[in-house]
Amino acid sequence: MKEALEQIRTAALDAIAQAENSRAVDDIKVKFLGKKGELTSILKQMGKLSAEERPVIGQLANQIRGELEQSIAAAQQQLKEKQLLAQIKAETLDVTMPGKKFDLGKKHPLTLVMDEIKEIFLGMGFDVVDGPEVELDYYNFEALNIPKNHPARDTQDTFYITENTLLRTQTSPVQIRTMEQRKPPIRVISPGRVFRSDALDATHSPVFHQIEGLVVDKNITMSDLKGTLELFIKKLYGEDSVVRFRPHHFPFTEPSAETDVMCFHCHGKGCRLCKGEGWIEILGAGMVHPKVLENCGIDPEEYSGFAFGMGLERVVMRRFAIDDIRLFFENDKRFLEQF
Ligand code: DAH
Repeated sequence: MKEALEQIRTAALDAIAQAENSRAVDDIKVKFLGKKGELTSILKQMGKLSAEERPVIGQLANQIRGELEQSIAAAQQQLKEKQLLAQIKAETLDVTMPGKKFDLGKKHPLTLVMDEIKEIFLGMGFDVVDGPEVELDYYNFEALNIPKNHPARDTQDTFYITENTLLRTQTSPVQIRTMEQRKPPIRVISPGRVFRSDALDATHSPVFHQIEGLVVDKNITMSDLKGTLELFIKKLYGEDSVVRFRPHHFPFTEPSAETDVMCFHCHGKGCRLCKGEGWIEILGAGMVHPKVLENCGIDPEEYSGFAFGMGLERVVMRRFAIDDIRLFFENDKRFLEQF
């Protein structure tokens, strides 16, 4: 029996020394010291021993039990510390490691130039106003002196939603909304998206951007229009820009003009950029038609005004030598990252 006890001691101490985690140590404890453990079952056989042997074996068994309990506790403590160290090591934060890199967004080229144009007009005392993209026929056409069956409607292929609602084909309806809400003096620009059911190709898109301008006050004349637009174009294209006004027709202005800038590439000689014209058309403009003022409750005897409208995409395409309008709307990062 003494030998059996010594074997248990050796086996248990071996097992403890090899245990890799506290779970394994727990198992060893059960295996040797538990109710059905090896040491316990030996002690149950003590009855068979003689009276002289019993205290000797009993003492040895208790000594081994004590020894094993101590070893187990020490092993548990050691393993706990080991585990803690491993955990600390695993969770250490190396502040010198390079961080994760996030791509920063960039302004869209349309936004870049739009912001520049807004800045120019803000500097001249204009406000920026907004209007709805889903618009009433009344604001998009009727109030702008374009009644039903007016030929001007044919030139603006309209997306109708119902008979009276549509996607605005121009930013000009914001003129009407502004004049309904504000009293002169009025000095606003209104940038935004417009929609026409054009087939998509390199130079046409069913959605594009316009910037509308409107000034209404007492004694506003054609020379105010010319001065303002000339100043604007020189800020946008450079002080040496040459500007010209050509007579034109718009239903909502009288007289009306189209405004060109001398081609900044060939200086009027004619090249690919200006399609041999020497001039590049920038915007439409004119003196607000008295009927339009009347439609908004402004007395044309007392007040006058001028308005203008320009497309944004063409300006941006020439600025950055972009040859396909579709690039603006595809959101290809390789394109957008260039600006
Ligand atoms: N709305 C016109 C268009 O889409 C542009 C325009 C021309 C606006 C003359 C104006 C203007 O305010 O006075 O073609």
